[in-house]
Amino acid sequence: MSIEIEIVSGDEGRPRARELLDRVWPPAEMDKLSWGQVKWASADLRVMIETDDGTLACHAGIFFRTVTWNGQKVHIGGIGGVATRADHRRRGYASLALEAAVHTMRDHDAAQFALLFCEPHNFEFYRSRGWHPFTGAVYAEQPGGKIRFEAMAPLVLDLKRRAPTLGTLDMCGLPW
Ligand SMILES: CC(C)(COP(=O)(O)OP(=O)(O)OC[C@H]1O[C@@H](n2cnc3c(N)ncnc32)[C@H](O)[C@@H]1OP(=O)(O)O)[C@@H](O)C(=O)NCCC(=O)NCCS
Repeated sequence: MSIEIEIVSGDEGRPRARELLDRVWPPAEMDKLSWGQVKWASADLRVMIETDDGTLACHAGIFFRTVTWNGQKVHIGGIGGVATRADHRRRGYASLALEAAVHTMRDHDAAQFALLFCEPHNFEFYRSRGWHPFTGAVYAEQPGGKIRFEAMAPLVLDLKRRAPTLGTLDMCGLPW
């Protein structure tokens, strides 16, 4: 089966991405998840992997943001909403989507390092692809104001510079 990998704008890809994300994380089941009530940022770009019958098999959101690390501004990239349809898993699609997202962030001159959040059962997936834990404190906005964000674990990837693994990272906005 052939596939097509496309990078689209966040807005353009949102409806199809939403459909896939709702399949993977059904809205009715979100209450059961520790992070089910988190308000997430909208992706700036999206990696969409489509099969030749037009099915959106896999998605990864790409984010760019100026955050602060230990009080200093730094422009970073991010990945979120990585999901593969259950019936299309273990074919390497998420690995390809991640690779495409990292390429895109590397091409974005100003992104110094990358950040994502994930659940413990996915640590190995990312760790074996070069991501490592950020063990400092992360702060992010939520509708009620700024909070220490601990709903999921942060992982970082070196891009233009070595990613910090300690210190205080303020997302200066919603998490992704
Ligand atoms: C996590 C998730 C995105 C992985 O998607 P995927 O498309 O199955 O991922 P891949 O196929 O690229 O890789 C998954 C594993 O299958 C293996 N694999 C890839 N192609 C394979 C193949 N043809 N045959 C057997 N195994 C294969 C990979 O080696 C990888 O194992 P590894 O981590 O030990 O290296 C998917 O399971 C998912 O959507 N889960 C629910 C949502 C979620 O948790 N998202 C992550 C949010 S951070």
